[in-house]
Amino acid sequence: MRSPLKALEKAPEELTAGRLKRIGEGVGKVVYASEHWVVKRDRGASEIIALILIWRLMKRVERFLPRRLAARWASHPSAALRLLRVAVQTAVSLVPKAVWFGTHWGRIWQKFVHRDVRGEYLAVKHLSGTSLVPETVTFPPTLVRVGGWPGWLVVTEATERVEETLYERLKKLAAQGRWNEVERWLERLLELRRAGWRRGVFSVDAHLKNFGVIESRVVLLDPGGLTDRWEDVEQHLAAMAKNGPPSQQFGLAEILKGAPELAARFDQRWRELADPQAIRDLWPERRSG
Ligand SMILES: Nc1ncnc2c1ncn2[C@@H]1O[C@H](COP(=O)(O)OP(=O)(O)O)[C@@H](O)[C@H]1O
Ligand SMILES: [Mg+2]
Repeated sequence: MRSPLKALEKAPEELTAGRLKRIGEGVGKVVYASEHWVVKRDRGASEIIALILIWRLMKRVERFLPRRLAARWASHPSAALRLLRVAVQTAVSLVPKAVWFGTHWGRIWQKFVHRDVRGEYLAVKHLSGTSLVPETVTFPPTLVRVGGWPGWLVVTEATERVEETLYERLKKLAAQGRWNEVERWLERLLELRRAGWRRGVFSVDAHLKNFGVIESRVVLLDPGGLTDRWEDVEQHLAAMAKNGPPSQQFGLAEILKGAPELAARFDQRWRELADPQAIRDLWPERRSG
């Protein structure tokens, strides 16, 4: 049963009761939370471009760094990196928009925003109200206090806060050698992904930080990268096939380091389930736009 977004007359009390903590961030958003709810701030264009620039640059520099250092760098954006972002962002924002919108980076930004907006639309259309995503409520514009700069934020919706991301959960379990549980969560992830495919949506941004854990459920946190176009799915699968083990592409390399057989089983299972024909069999019959 799918219900539309739940509209409240007033924001949940806890959102305005105190200062919200910054609990996560991606390229497109910064996420703040109270005890049970999260709100998101969309980053501005120059902020996103700066992050993409730095990320690309890091990929290039990474090749010359020792592996351990590179892994650390990628998983802990340090204060230095944040400073670098602000510097690059300033440079980016000094270039007139009309100039860089026409550049390579402008187009990358446009593509990114388009993917994000379309994904959100598809999530509302096909997933809201289902157990595949956290609950979302909407309310009249509300001013909330948040940690860090700029200190305030106006929001009109909030999302159920998950216990932690799937990435964090798996990392903890792996550190304790609880491999059976790791494998069970991975199986739940595949089940969730198949449930999405049955509804005719596929995520091309499947990093484990984009999934969350609520009790024994895996949910999709970040709809950016969702597509309902079969051509996109085919293209993505073809690209994945050329890019090495699926487990690594989902960000599992570090986590499964201590369990190579498990990684191999997961890769095998993914290839079986995400075979284009197998997905096509689940995909609903509808003409997508
Ligand atoms: N509902 C939620 N509950 C808890 N943490 C969340 C929630 N939504 C997002 N986060 C945290 O914020 C991070 C960034 O959110 P995400 O929607 O993926 O933004 P982006 O589009 O920038 O990647 C996530 O990786 C996660 O750590
Ligand atoms: Mg994300």
